[in-house]
Amino acid sequence: MKDLSAYLDPLNLPGWRYFPEVGSTNDLALEWAQNGAEDGALILADRQTAGRGRGNRRWVTNSGADLALSLVLRPRVEEARYLPRFAALAALGLVGALEEWGLEALVKWPNDVLLNGKKVAGVLVENIWQDENLEAVVVGMGVNVTAAAVPPEDELRFPATALELELGQKLDRWAVLAGILQRIRAYRAILPTDALMTAWNAKLAFKGSEVAFRFPDGQVRKAQVLAIRPDGRLALQLNGESEPSLVVAGEVALLGWGGALKD
Ligand code: BTN
Repeated sequence: MKDLSAYLDPLNLPGWRYFPEVGSTNDLALEWAQNGAEDGALILADRQTAGRGRGNRRWVTNSGADLALSLVLRPRVEEARYLPRFAALAALGLVGALEEWGLEALVKWPNDVLLNGKKVAGVLVENIWQDENLEAVVVGMGVNVTAAAVPPEDELRFPATALELELGQKLDRWAVLAGILQRIRAYRAILPTDALMTAWNAKLAFKGSEVAFRFPDGQVRKAQVLAIRPDGRLALQLNGESEPSLVVAGEVALLGWGGALKD
């Protein structure tokens, strides 16, 4: 098996740092971004003791079981208008990388990656603002690689799995990482264009299906998933409403799973 540098050196990243153990790779990336990290700088860790998920939830990263990465990106002026699309870069990057292994992944809005309907990765984007200027975007991603990465079912909000469980064979996580990074670069090149939205919508999970949509205040409504709009909002047809609704936050859940509505 090749070591990490053998995968990363050909990518010519402006810098990368690997740690056997950290609190959160996003925290280190935010700190590095405040201290001059260049666009594309990467933090990686084998284990996180204080990994963070969306909505202030905990994200567990076990040694040898997960990929935990955080990229520092410095948005150009024309990209800064499309902030929600930065999270899509990582999710689409993983979806593309998995195609090399014959796996068809989808993106559960806004940016969870699903394999066979189960969550295999999540993305947490955090921004650094200097007054009105967007100084840096930190794109953090956690990927369940081995079975040991999957939390116990009573801790899950959505069914979860791991790459190796779905593939049925061992995987070199650094090969997956290199595939993700290459594709993030390619998607970044089209970030402000319609092509990015086409790609994101082409991989949208539950399109046309009925789901339970959980709003940030905890309210859950039955809805049909329509599409992601250019500004990153999700268009939903809520049951009982005559017009589609556009939501900026919340999550798509399964009807009848994890306390969401039964049908
Ligand atoms: C989610 O699904 O809630 C998002 C999870 C994001 C986890 C990753 S792991 C690498 C990076 N460091 C963190 O502390 N969080 C992100």
